[in-house]
Amino acid sequence: MRGAGVPRPKKRHQRPHPHLGMTLGYRTGQREFGKQVAKDVAALCGRTAGRLENISRGSPRCDRNNEACAMKLTVNGQRRVLQEVDPTMPLLWAVRDLLGLKGTKFGCGQALCGACTVHLDGQPIRSCQTSLADVGDGKVTTIEAIAGRVAEAVKSAWIKNNVPQCGYCQSGQIMSAVALLESNPKPSRDDINSAMSGNLCRCGTYPRIRAAIADASNVLEHQ
Ligand code: FES
Ligand code: FES
Repeated sequence: MRGAGVPRPKKRHQRPHPHLGMTLGYRTGQREFGKQVAKDVAALCGRTAGRLENISRGSPRCDRNNEACAMKLTVNGQRRVLQEVDPTMPLLWAVRDLLGLKGTKFGCGQALCGACTVHLDGQPIRSCQTSLADVGDGKVTTIEAIAGRVAEAVKSAWIKNNVPQCGYCQSGQIMSAVALLESNPKPSRDDINSAMSGNLCRCGTYPRIRAAIADASNVLEHQ
């Protein structure tokens, strides 16, 4: 039994956000989180304006004449304007909580699990560790809009092989699998293991993931 004087360890949502340096409470409910983000980023806009010169990729487009910072992103083929956002906000936050695209999942928040994988200019990236400033003018694709010959083959193979169990990791798995087959249509088992090694599945669906990627590769070869 825990002693009366022993403090409980802080839960993840009670720790300071690694980028914004404050507790966002993203486990307390999406609505609350969205409101909190809006408040926090509005407060941060003034502070971050001075850092914009150091941003290496793209243009953050923070309008310093306004009180709010507005950033433009291309997500799933649409140009989106995000009002009052901090350029250091992780892309995952924007995709899920500001744009309402909930197919991309939050897992570890530290680029360790792959649940948050999206494509940036066709390459798989960890959206939890990619800031809006780093996205710049790049084209973001999420699971909601993944399309094309390879994506269709992967989705069909996922269904055929009954890959998902709880499903939580699967959007990230599919995004990584599509990126793999786009660059390497006939991957070996080692290629598959290597390309998918950053996507964790707590349910252990790895054998079905491998089988589905091999199936999709065969289908693509005979099309
Ligand atoms: S949530 Fe991004 S890698 Fe785990
Ligand atoms: S299917 Fe449950 S975590 Fe992968």
